[in-house]
Amino acid sequence: MIFKSSTTAVPDASSVPQHIAIIMDGNGRWATKRFLPRVAGHMKGVEAVRDCVDACVGRGIKYLTLFAFSSENWRRPEEEVSLLMRLFVTALEREVSKMHANDIRLKVVGDLSRFDPKLQDMIANAQRRTANNTQLTLTVCANYGGRWDIMQATSKMVAANPGVVDFTEEQLAEHLAMAYAPEPDLFIRTGGEERISNFLLWQLAYSELYFTDTFWPDFNTGALDAAISSYQSRERRFGRTGAQLETKT
Ligand code: IPE
Ligand code: IPE
Ligand code: MG
Repeated sequence: MIFKSSTTAVPDASSVPQHIAIIMDGNGRWATKRFLPRVAGHMKGVEAVRDCVDACVGRGIKYLTLFAFSSENWRRPEEEVSLLMRLFVTALEREVSKMHANDIRLKVVGDLSRFDPKLQDMIANAQRRTANNTQLTLTVCANYGGRWDIMQATSKMVAANPGVVDFTEEQLAEHLAMAYAPEPDLFIRTGGEERISNFLLWQLAYSELYFTDTFWPDFNTGALDAAISSYQSRERRFGRTGAQLETKT
């Protein structure tokens, strides 16, 4: 299925966002505030992911996209990076069966070539196993960067159209790592920072942005509902006037 971009067509308005994308930030500060090592925050963060996925299923959200590790996060101390990788492996080992039982399709997007081959295999197996599930598509962005995505899509688009020099947005969009999903309706960033940090640069063009000071490990169902209520109070105009929306032109 090809989704029309929100920059070209007004997506169907629904009471809950169809697609929520989250920058899960604040794990380290959550731990430091409690005099715990940063890793404790990441571990607690995994629990928050589990709760968030369950809550999205319960609310009929069809796509949830989580920024787990950015292309810039390699700049962190080696010890923290390897710990995050181990947590990723454990989470896959523990959660994939449950996801499959709950009809959740798992996708992992990003430049996976830099990961340990064993982790790459686990990801491939998990994706294969859950490929036909339809309740929720959970995308984990790992070694992902919005600029990386636009560049890799550009290379593929050029290779697929030899000799062509003029391209359309649609031709590029079909090669983006998340071409299987509509663009996010709601973007959430926890942890108090108000920036995109090289997340879905292309796809966030018309998403509603929501920032909260809550650290990711504390982001519970109530916090998710507050973000969804904020989303529901917005008027998405996509360049049109409010009056045009009322007459649905
Ligand atoms: C987000 O929390 C998790 C990752 C980036 C992997 P942080 O680790 O960035 O937590 P803070 O921002 O330092 O508190
Ligand atoms: C963004 O968080 C990436 C993830 C949540 C995976 P960071 O904590 O790395 O972002 P910056 O560096 O503060 O912008
Ligand atoms: Mg951070």
